[in-house]
Amino acid sequence: MSGKDDRGAWGSRLGFILAAAGSAVGLGNLWKFPYLTYRFGGGQGEQNGAGGFVLLYLMAIILVGIPVMIAEILIGRRGRQNPVGSFEAIRPKTAWKMTGYLGILTGFIILSYYAVVAGWTVEYVAKSVTYEFADYQAQVPDDDVKVAVYNESVEAGRAIAGGDNTSIEQNWSKYKASFDSPEALKAAVETKRAELFPVRLFHDFLASPLKQVGYFFAFMLVTVFVVLGGVSGGIERANRVLMPLLLLILLGLAGRVLTLPGGSKAISFLFKPDFSHMTFEMVLWALGQAFFSLSLGMGALLTYGSYLSKGDSIGSASLAIAGLDTLVALMASVIIFGAIFSFNLVMKDAGVGNLFTAIPVIFLSLPGGQFMVIVFYTLIMLAALTSTVSLLEVTSSYLIDERGFSRRWAVLVAGSITFAVGVPCALSFNVLSDFTIFGKTVFDLFDFFATNIALPFGGILILVFVGFVMTDAERREELSDMHPVVYVIWRFLVKYVAPVAVAFVLGALLLGKVTA
Ligand code: TRP
Repeated sequence: MSGKDDRGAWGSRLGFILAAAGSAVGLGNLWKFPYLTYRFGGGQGEQNGAGGFVLLYLMAIILVGIPVMIAEILIGRRGRQNPVGSFEAIRPKTAWKMTGYLGILTGFIILSYYAVVAGWTVEYVAKSVTYEFADYQAQVPDDDVKVAVYNESVEAGRAIAGGDNTSIEQNWSKYKASFDSPEALKAAVETKRAELFPVRLFHDFLASPLKQVGYFFAFMLVTVFVVLGGVSGGIERANRVLMPLLLLILLGLAGRVLTLPGGSKAISFLFKPDFSHMTFEMVLWALGQAFFSLSLGMGALLTYGSYLSKGDSIGSASLAIAGLDTLVALMASVIIFGAIFSFNLVMKDAGVGNLFTAIPVIFLSLPGGQFMVIVFYTLIMLAALTSTVSLLEVTSSYLIDERGFSRRWAVLVAGSITFAVGVPCALSFNVLSDFTIFGKTVFDLFDFFATNIALPFGGILILVFVGFVMTDAERREELSDMHPVVYVIWRFLVKYVAPVAVAFVLGALLLGKVTA
């Protein structure tokens, strides 16, 4: 079968929007965004609040994200090819197709580490169904628990002695009761045990090379299976089921959390406008996160756009996709912070593992907690799947369009290459944890290169191509339904505002002004 016949098309406009939103909504929304708001909100949020960061993020979405999204989809719809072929189709025999090659390369890299983390969600769904959590909790040695309680009480005492008033409440209130009676001490020890076990569980899980590679492989297998089904039969069909399901789960969880005491606290933590704590660093992160979260800069939405039919409006679709993506990120934060604030949990090190260490503690202590944990990890797993599918589609479409592969071979080859590249990422947490390049493990290096360098760089190339290389007539033809005033605003953002903002971020990073 020739490659050209294996291109596909969306069955409907809604199908495209759901698939593109499926690509956008993923670990970036459910894990990375809440983690960033937590970090920039100043931890527990009593003092700072994340309103400033949230505001910057919304500005990044509106001023840069949506304009880039329209530009990227426009290239795909006009070129009707994979990223390489689309640039070539619009400006033949120029170096612009290199932008496409960069996208394909970035696609392999992102998928190879993203699917490793996605694999973790499978393990956690399994753990919550079999309730392995309970066994683990019982297994935390008494001595470990007591040492932890002791250390924290000493820390609390030191803070008081040092006149550190801000942490007195947080640290001491947790422990002062334990000195009043043996029962209270016992309760404190049990609380500590409940806090410790998910950390142990997570670290044991990361330490197993077999599990890391195994779950990664399993996730790639499912991704391959969906993409093998083709554009309308596989990707669109999967998203039509998974996206509504995901939104439903999200609404249910948000509803539950809002009835907790921390619910309203989470809302004011996230949405109370606060301009006094904005920093330069926040601007950079807000912009980078906007790119990653909206799946921009490497041709994922370009590829999805190439299956869009001529009459469909790119502008309103982009607005819907970006709106959904942002809504999910904000709802995820409400859920996670609502839970955290309700339990007065202090996340000391808000890092990679938080979604996997803090959430079990909180949910499991609620009535119906096991069910909530199952639902929560299932949500993340499904969201990750609709994103990995979009990444594999990019690299596969390149093999179909440019190399004449049949869809089946293209998907199998692209999936296998990704797996091979991803094994070192899966081993970054155990066997290869000491193997570092520029001080980073393979996993961290891939994430850094892709998110902070390749995506913004690809984004600038897309902006310059659409803003300066393509003509007004060409652009207008693709956006014929757009109101003339909106069109002029969009063109201004694409030509000047967005590229300058992105160049600024990229420049600051490369000059080492900010750390990623
Ligand atoms: N946007 C997805 C998320 O938030 C990740 C993702 C999927 C992605 N495809 C992409 C990121 C393409 C950048 C480029 O989890």
